[in-house]
Amino acid sequence: MAIRNSSFVFGVSVSDYNFIGREQETRQLKLNFEEGVNTIIISPRRWGKTSLVQHARKKINSDVITVYVDIFGCKSEYEFYNTLVEALLKQTASTLQLWMDNARGFLARLSPKISFAPEPSSEFSIALGITPKTHSPEEILNLAESIAEKKGKRIVICIDEFQQIGEWSDSVTIQKRLRSIWQHQKNVSYCLFGSKKHMMSDIFQNKKMPFYQFGDLMFLPRIPTSTWVEYIVSHFAERQRSISEDLASQICNLVDGYSSYVQQLAWHVFSLTDEGDTVTTEHIMYAQKSLVDSCELLFLEQTNPLTEYQMNFLRAIASGVKDGYGNANIREEYNLGSASNITRLKEALVNADLIESDGRKLQFTDPVFALWFKKRFMN
Ligand SMILES: Nc1ncnc2c1ncn2[C@@H]1O[C@H](COP(=O)(O)OP(=O)(O)O)[C@@H](O)[C@H]1O
Ligand SMILES: [Mg+2]
Repeated sequence: MAIRNSSFVFGVSVSDYNFIGREQETRQLKLNFEEGVNTIIISPRRWGKTSLVQHARKKINSDVITVYVDIFGCKSEYEFYNTLVEALLKQTASTLQLWMDNARGFLARLSPKISFAPEPSSEFSIALGITPKTHSPEEILNLAESIAEKKGKRIVICIDEFQQIGEWSDSVTIQKRLRSIWQHQKNVSYCLFGSKKHMMSDIFQNKKMPFYQFGDLMFLPRIPTSTWVEYIVSHFAERQRSISEDLASQICNLVDGYSSYVQQLAWHVFSLTDEGDTVTTEHIMYAQKSLVDSCELLFLEQTNPLTEYQMNFLRAIASGVKDGYGNANIREEYNLGSASNITRLKEALVNADLIESDGRKLQFTDPVFALWFKKRFMN
């Protein structure tokens, strides 16, 4: 028997039945991948970067090999190299033997620990043990180019959570190294994507930084409300429930079109209904409350370390103050301390990823956090 599709999915990347829209972005990515154009994708967390890249990977023609690597867990340059090389070797070859052959020269100085999973069909895992003693960065970073040449195929390396690189010690030196090698490769291109807008922007939009103008910069937009309405209405209908277009767009608007929350809120609404039911405004209000409650622990963890001034600053933003924080009357009304304090407050909250600035105006990064914050701290 076929496994039934989940109606709504959040918190992991989505595909097929749970993936909607993104036609234009998919087309652009496909083209960039096939033509070897480097691409940078920036958006807040959980808007759909990983899902989009995985979706585009499935669409490209077979002369191009894509390699996907997530570097969220990498804390240093060489951890990154190990992760990168493993992904590269595995994903450019169809079998273990093939990649051993491919990379014989490269692996010669290593004694990789290869472990097979119990079932023959599942993946093998390797611990390569690449260190500065065994390989120079240049050698590692050129491996992709030599595999591409050998295979006569273009390679696109997709690096997820790329903002992590900004956290490594000596980050700028490493970035210089990567860029100077990557930009000369003829058969390998890169798709670098991540959240934390301030970090990604600093890496890619700051003239003084090595990755400035490295490639096609894509700020992933929201999925439009009309697309969500279609998705929500049809997914309810397929499970014998009905929801009006109006209420479906309310689900989207209540969470400001933030992809993963749209699916999560839709899921909460769905779980309040049975076959044959029609969704009402009460369902939506109740589901919104339960969504906010379900995030509370996480949000408390984010606000607990904040200072009183930082909390006050969040209150000011939540009250709708969008700029002019340095003005005496605003500082007084919200108790923000001295004028020189303002920049520091802003910076700390941006670094904590709680707020972001789009140009001059500040806003909360997370719409559900905003709802929760108002409910908890401003009554
Ligand atoms: N194209 C899409 N269609 C439907 N839901 C999506 C789409 N993109 C993102 N989502 C929702 O957002 C969540 C996070 O997506 P993900 O790709 O992991 O985002 P990111 O990589 O930006 O953090 C998914 O679990 C899903 O609920
Ligand atoms: Mg992701």
